[in-house]
Amino acid sequence: MSISISSFGALPDGRAAALFTLTNPSGAQLCLTDYGARIVAVRVPDRTGNLADVALGFDSAADYIRQDNYIGATIGRVGNRIAGSAFTLSGKDYHVDANEGPNCLHGGHNAFDRQLWHAEPHEGEAANMVTFTYTSADGEEGFPGTLRVTVSIGWSHENDLSICYSAVCDQDTLCNLTNHSYFNLAGQGNIEQQILTLNAPFITETDDALIPTGHDLPVDGLPVDFRSGLRLGEGFARGSEYPMMVAKNGYDFNFTVAGSGMRCFGSLYDPQSGRVMHLRSTEPCVQVYSGQHMDFSGHQGTHYGCHAGLALETQHHPDAIHHAAFPSVVLRANTPYETQTVYSFSVK
Ligand code: BGC
Repeated sequence: MSISISSFGALPDGRAAALFTLTNPSGAQLCLTDYGARIVAVRVPDRTGNLADVALGFDSAADYIRQDNYIGATIGRVGNRIAGSAFTLSGKDYHVDANEGPNCLHGGHNAFDRQLWHAEPHEGEAANMVTFTYTSADGEEGFPGTLRVTVSIGWSHENDLSICYSAVCDQDTLCNLTNHSYFNLAGQGNIEQQILTLNAPFITETDDALIPTGHDLPVDGLPVDFRSGLRLGEGFARGSEYPMMVAKNGYDFNFTVAGSGMRCFGSLYDPQSGRVMHLRSTEPCVQVYSGQHMDFSGHQGTHYGCHAGLALETQHHPDAIHHAAFPSVVLRANTPYETQTVYSFSVK
């Protein structure tokens, strides 16, 4: 196991970003950067042992700043949307940064994905890891309290990519952290031939701005029913059957996953290469977003177009602060926040 560190270019203010390459004994690699505590690349074998990069990304910090789309980034303080960019907490009204019309998406314009995190690499027997830390100041993007965040991203001998999120705040605040990697197990083209299986009986109903109405709806029989596995291309084609998919040209839904605690969420499988990614998490939900708005060049000039990758963002419900029926995203003062998500790569 080894970790190599190289330059990832400079930020506009002159600070240097670094690239961390974690290589396990089989030769499989995970690349991370401290700019946004991001996953830059995941190189894993197919059935015949050929490595391909199955996570979308760019080749320098400058490219991430230019193109963005949250690719590979740690998202916070609050992943997904806060309606009206306002909420009341512990008797006080707060206004947070509105970066999607009137609403706040993924923590605002200058949120965790836009920060240079402190990074500490650790080489271990069974896994290597980089621990990223960031202190979000009281009032940053409008959120209350000084929030100290740690995101440890590990890469094991068995090709398990694990992310442990922890945080603590000196005041009551909101916290809903995730990672915004887009996966494509073919390592090229689009995800239409890949099969998504999700142990999720419900999706969250939303309005046209993707703000929840407050209801979770059963997936039974709909093109959002992934419980027995569904080829994504077939799901996209069946989108016309389902009003919430018509305008979307793909998936952008919060799914509530059965059970609680650390559990299997499901898998993504590419029948052609044989690559499989199993997903486990302690979170209640996952946002499935199929990248319908992408149109730009990524790693080594590769074109990323519509459906070039699938984001599986483990999370609490969107806009949970405004819906008492959804699990809470309130983080009380001096109380630890801890969640974990693991993406495990193998072949079948
Ligand atoms: C959201 C999408 C949004 C995308 C931006 C996803 O998490 O669900 O609605 O367009 O992030 O990259």
